[in-house]
Amino acid sequence: MNSKAELSGRTIVLAVTGGVAAYKSAELARLLIKEGARVRVVMTEAAAHFIGAATFQAITGEPVWSDLWDARMPNGMAHIDLTRDAQLLLIAPATADCIAKLVQGRADDLLSTLCLARDATCALMVAPAMNRQMWEHPATARNMNTLRGDGAIVVGPAAGEQACGEVGLGRMVEPAELLDAVLAHFTPKTMAGRRVLITAGPTAEAIDPVRVVTNLSSGRMGYALACAAARAGAEVTLISGPTGLAKPFGVERVDVSSALSMHEAVLSRYAACDVFIAVAAVADYRPAAPSERKIKKSADKLSIDMVRNPDILADVAARADAPFCVGFAAESHDLDTYAQGKRAAKKLPLVVGNLVADGLGGEDNAVVLYDAEGRHPLVRAPKPVIARAILEHISRLLKD
Ligand code: CTP
Repeated sequence: MNSKAELSGRTIVLAVTGGVAAYKSAELARLLIKEGARVRVVMTEAAAHFIGAATFQAITGEPVWSDLWDARMPNGMAHIDLTRDAQLLLIAPATADCIAKLVQGRADDLLSTLCLARDATCALMVAPAMNRQMWEHPATARNMNTLRGDGAIVVGPAAGEQACGEVGLGRMVEPAELLDAVLAHFTPKTMAGRRVLITAGPTAEAIDPVRVVTNLSSGRMGYALACAAARAGAEVTLISGPTGLAKPFGVERVDVSSALSMHEAVLSRYAACDVFIAVAAVADYRPAAPSERKIKKSADKLSIDMVRNPDILADVAARADAPFCVGFAAESHDLDTYAQGKRAAKKLPLVVGNLVADGLGGEDNAVVLYDAEGRHPLVRAPKPVIARAILEHISRLLKD
């Protein structure tokens, strides 16, 4: 889940070492650049067996560095200068050998020397990638402990099928997830220690085994909030109706379908949370008696008897142990009146209102925040940007 130019003004040194996953680092470089970062690539000699420097040069528009004795840097000190204006040194993939060298503080090639010469303003993030036996070896486990103790941020490895044919822990985390980790690193931790529960997406109410009543909610706003909350340091559980969206990195997702199953999933979790954000477009009604068999088109007319679904947000907000509850109001007209009305009716400290024409299903949104102090309009922006602004508002209200 991206937002525009989130890394703008940042310089990231992307170091590529000799693992099969090196081919994925080209995609990672592209993603970082798309977010506005300046990316300077350093490759080890071994990395060149897996991917060419020309690929990175073309993607980043910058020369690629691999030789400790490279004289292209104005003062001839690539091992010092490359990280001086960088805020992050990201090693992806990081081989077992590279990690061992970091732990020992060796300085026998450009990358290891860069790591040692790096100052405190440039964080080190490492995405290990290796055969599962190498990962499980006590020497690697020892090295990883030391590396973490030295302050490195370790992302992964992921589990799955490996290039060698074995299955287990050792795959490099996918580029999109690494991008997420980088974005999280640069996000102020305004929600650290908070547990956040979010509902998102539409619900689907069964008519028969193959048909449902649903709505046009894409789930994007709820997912953007889950993603932004996780990046801001919160522990996030996302109760999601059916959407085609990928699970945001670092978020626990619980998949549900109907309003009743969403209600149940929320009730069993809300008490352990500090904040509940109800973004889901929950169906207000469900077919009273879904048919167990597929309904045949024999009659000329079909009426479906509908009954009310529970109001999940109102139910939670009314409880004595309710967390800080945030509601959404999507209206076609009279936004101020209806949104303020919902805030009062459901006894919510905060309601996020938008006109359906402005947000439902789209990439952007224009919203107004309604709290005890009044209305706070936010300018139209991509949903991830809106999500960050909503969370900043929530974290301010939580502090008051
Ligand atoms: N909500 C909920 N459970 C429901 C219905 C809505 O949790 N069964 C939550 C939504 O996630 C959203 C807010 O309540 O945060 C929307 O309020 P609501 O008054 O239900 O909106 P509408 O269904 O659009 O109501 P109305 O038809 O009265 O406009």
